[in-house]
Amino acid sequence: MGLAASAAAPAAGLASAAVSRASTPSSLVFDPDAYTELTVTIKDTEGTAHEVVYRFTKVASYVARPVDAAYQSLNVSVPVRIDGRPVDARRAPVLLANQIGGYMPSSVAGATGISASGMGGGTSRQGLALAAGYVVVEPGARGRTLVDASGTYYGTAPAAIVDLKAAVRYLRFNKGRVPGDVDRIVSSGVSAGGALSSLLGASGDSPLYRPYLEEIGAAPASDAIFATGAWCPITDLEHADMAYEWCWGSNPLIDGSQVDRTVSKELATSYVDYVASLHLKAKGFGSLTARNMDAYLLKTYMEPSATKYLASLSDADRAAYLAANPFITWAQGRATFTWSDFLTHVGPRKKNAPSFDDFAMTTPETNLFGTGTTRARHFTLYSLRHENGAGARLEPDVPAKLHLMNPMHHLAGQADANRSRHWWIRLGTKDTDTSHTIAGNLSARLTALGDHVNTSYYWDAGHGADQDPGDFIRWIAAVADRRK
Ligand code: DHB
Repeated sequence: MGLAASAAAPAAGLASAAVSRASTPSSLVFDPDAYTELTVTIKDTEGTAHEVVYRFTKVASYVARPVDAAYQSLNVSVPVRIDGRPVDARRAPVLLANQIGGYMPSSVAGATGISASGMGGGTSRQGLALAAGYVVVEPGARGRTLVDASGTYYGTAPAAIVDLKAAVRYLRFNKGRVPGDVDRIVSSGVSAGGALSSLLGASGDSPLYRPYLEEIGAAPASDAIFATGAWCPITDLEHADMAYEWCWGSNPLIDGSQVDRTVSKELATSYVDYVASLHLKAKGFGSLTARNMDAYLLKTYMEPSATKYLASLSDADRAAYLAANPFITWAQGRATFTWSDFLTHVGPRKKNAPSFDDFAMTTPETNLFGTGTTRARHFTLYSLRHENGAGARLEPDVPAKLHLMNPMHHLAGQADANRSRHWWIRLGTKDTDTSHTIAGNLSARLTALGDHVNTSYYWDAGHGADQDPGDFIRWIAAVADRRK
């Protein structure tokens, strides 16, 4: 596919250009006049309905050489009137809301307006952001199951993160043309989408993605984002099996049976060295190790989560909850309990062992690390050698792909300089889709780096919960006012 003639060159402020300006095709230039004006009624978190008039633009592709434009496209929604009052969104923060789940492909190509309702019929995060006066961008991205006519998988790692970066580059390349402040992009996503959101935040302008971005003709601009929202991120995949057994190893499966004790113990044991290798520190705990990680999680997240929940109840409801859950001690307005009782309270674990790189390669993650015409591959030495013998080695491309998919790699040592500095991380205490250490380690590392980290757990909530959507919208406004 040839590149179209050069288009209007963007203004200053470009970082690490992957494509020279002269070869930037006109398809990457956002047309501010190409919108449809739409009206939507959006209920805010207090239940008040707002009439929002907005400009909706469909961008056919955010890259010059799309592999599959059905996924590599995005929609922009810009509020112009809220409850009859004009809104000037030219300097508004931009919410980049991915809707990726399960590392599956995600397309917005068929959408005819902002996706204002969320799961369960409430208002989506995008809807709340639009009604708050923010610009909302909904990007699609390739995902693991996409396969072409020749049987080649074209959405496996690192396709989804490359696409999200290309979407960011498109927005930043179009500074001044896309309404909103593209220096204030806030990413959001849940689960696999939360993992990709945190990866996007951690790896801004990392040179590792350049060849992939060049291949698809991403715009010559920075792919750094200002702030990151991640709900139950399913990340640190190559350590997720060991982390899972460290956390949920003693919890039964849903049918009451226990997972293979040998596998569980071997994985949990290998987690000890991994945690040590992270060199994590947390205030009041010193170095975090597999021995004090439970106390760290308990004191930093689980007890405050229960405390907040119990404090919000009426006296009668609190008394009833405490009577039904005698493992909790409630004194001076604070909940305390042991880690072991907490694990029992959570109940059955969702996943068998190993949870992510399973021996039979049936999980989303083994498919994520597929390549070419191979649907799924092992991505941990433990599972690979369990199946193929002690001499087996990961395929040569796998370590680099793990690096491209894991925010922890980008936060190690010096950490990527253009990572976002503002982080909103949320998880339910009963979410057993991954180990609680995943978000715990991510938060500890970011905090140690000096970033502004707002992490909290929703008590007794499961996978995908969002119990403070209004707080996130207000947080965006608060952090967007900061210089850095
Ligand atoms: C998701 C959930 C999982 O348990 C997982 O392993 C990967 C992704 C999800 O909901 O996106």
